[in-house]
Amino acid sequence: MVEWAHGNGERMTPEAARAPRVALVVSSTRPVRVGGQLGVHLTQIIEGDHLGVEVVTIDLRELALPFLDEPRMASLGGYVHEHTRRWAATITDLDAMIVLTPQYNWGYPAPLKNAIDYLFAEWRGLPGLLVTYGTHGGTKCYDQITQVLDRVGVDLVKPGICVYIPKDAYGPDDHLLSPAAVLAPDEADLRDRLAALVTKARGRAAGRETTPAQV
Ligand SMILES: Cc1cc2nc3c(=O)[nH]c(=O)nc-3n(C[C@H](O)[C@H](O)[C@H](O)COP(=O)(O)O)c2cc1C
Repeated sequence: MVEWAHGNGERMTPEAARAPRVALVVSSTRPVRVGGQLGVHLTQIIEGDHLGVEVVTIDLRELALPFLDEPRMASLGGYVHEHTRRWAATITDLDAMIVLTPQYNWGYPAPLKNAIDYLFAEWRGLPGLLVTYGTHGGTKCYDQITQVLDRVGVDLVKPGICVYIPKDAYGPDDHLLSPAAVLAPDEADLRDRLAALVTKARGRAAGRETTPAQV
């Protein structure tokens, strides 16, 4: 029987192979934000659909990367900072990611661009799905971030999802009254794209597991 190897050299059977790991990247870092609420609801949809993936949340507010402080371009490698190495290891460990981003002044938040620019090779071939949102719909930032992720070689499921948030969806505390209601008009499309993303993630996870063990 074919065997797979953990990084520690321990052998494992194909049956014991891990579920594809899909990150949900929450890109708003504001102290009062709706990105966290939308992220939780997205995670519930994915887990409720039993897609057989592990969902991990990457909250850029918690990641708190400094503004890019690596001396060399990421495409040259040779990261000198521990925070960069940790970020690279986090992305390398993924089989797919969903980037959830708000639209700010037709663009997307600076911490998201910063987090992308820290790395290069790690993005190449990583399956991705973009979910943008905004009170004007998120379509402008969708175009911008698509250009950037295409450039670094993320394997995007297209088209992504642009969520329109009506002004009356916000409560007096500036949070969403119902994230489920906000996502409802896009839920069918979202499920369709998630299925495509999971197919790609499975392919990547399988490729990872069949890579000959480095002993
Ligand atoms: C700095 C800033 C700029 C914004 N610009 C836009 C915009 O260009 N288009 C849009 O649809 N919404 C815009 N909005 C409204 C946001 O879509 C809305 O506030 C959303 O809740 C932001 O996501 P967050 O709460 O997760 O940060 C802007 C909000 C902020 C804070």
